[in-house]
Amino acid sequence: MEEYFEFHIRTRVIYQPGLANDVGDEAARFGAVRAFVVADPGVVAAGIVEQIRASLQRRVAVVGVASDVPANSSVAAVEQITSRARTCAANLLVGVGGGSALDTAKAVRMLLSEGGSLHDYQGYNLLERPLLPLIAIPTTAGTGSEVTAWAVIRDERAGIKLAFGSPYLAPDLAILDPMLTRSLPAMLTAATGMDALTHAIESFIGRQTNVITEALAAQAVGMIANHLRAATHTGDDLEARGAMLVASCIAGAAFSSGGGSLGIVHALSHAIGGRIGIHHGTANAILLPHGMRFNAGVSASRLARLAWQLGVNTGGRTEQVVIDEAIDAVRDLAADCDLPVRLRDVGVAHDDLPAYAELALGDAAVFTNPRPVSADDALAVLHAAW
Ligand SMILES: [Fe+2]
Repeated sequence: MEEYFEFHIRTRVIYQPGLANDVGDEAARFGAVRAFVVADPGVVAAGIVEQIRASLQRRVAVVGVASDVPANSSVAAVEQITSRARTCAANLLVGVGGGSALDTAKAVRMLLSEGGSLHDYQGYNLLERPLLPLIAIPTTAGTGSEVTAWAVIRDERAGIKLAFGSPYLAPDLAILDPMLTRSLPAMLTAATGMDALTHAIESFIGRQTNVITEALAAQAVGMIANHLRAATHTGDDLEARGAMLVASCIAGAAFSSGGGSLGIVHALSHAIGGRIGIHHGTANAILLPHGMRFNAGVSASRLARLAWQLGVNTGGRTEQVVIDEAIDAVRDLAADCDLPVRLRDVGVAHDDLPAYAELALGDAAVFTNPRPVSADDALAVLHAAW
């Protein structure tokens, strides 16, 4: 090995069923005493926000709770929550929920610590120092946001998704407690799980992969292939829930390292998600087999190496057959979890495909796709998935 590579994860990760009840003790370690909780309505309904608040209040003051983060969080939501947190003089943020809630907590933390407006920080590496402490508690197993250096927020006026990336954006602590994911409905379990699988596969074949992220991504793919069906169909299967929660965290660590390494699936999914309210994981689940097919030529040896993690029998068979079966295995996994398989089934208009193809070319994820992507290429993948 001669080429330079970098691996960096700045988040302390702790795992155990029931661990969310210790968030108060963990918060007290930061020496900050004014906690502000950022959550979504789903975790409020599940009683999780009350559980977190009760634990926090044993050790620190809870000065505010924003429990109204929308799915596909917006610039307006981030600005409004930031001003509430600023009024309360919060000095510790606790994000609880799915990727949207955690990304919102990260964006709020950025504005609360550094001031200015969200658009000042769009892009990579624009933060220069550590921010106020942030504890992330995921209640879905998908985005890996609890360890990544990225946040994605929808600019509702421009109809695009804004990406913010900085090592300082990664939370200080991630508390992984699979008790919190047991109440997640089957559809969301499946969609978020496929998002994690997309992170792992795009990272494994992406341009910025290295020997460490490769190991992480392969491990995540195997865990997801083995446990997503059970987590989806038997929601209170704690072993499956725990494996999915850890796998999504591992996949997050893999794709987020060294500036991020995703690909055409995320680029297209971001383009569509900026315009219509499609779930990010559902869009990825539909697009992933087509993205793998698009990259199959340039990533042949990598995809063939990954195939056994997807349950494909690789012994004595040609690379082409193994890759075809790996793509089928991904498609079967999504179908077994009752996810839609075509873009037309989730409200994507055929006439809009050229605009999505064009938009995807400006997404950061497209630059780390292993095969260069033209507008015609992006459109062809969209047509295949439609
Ligand atoms: Fe994703």
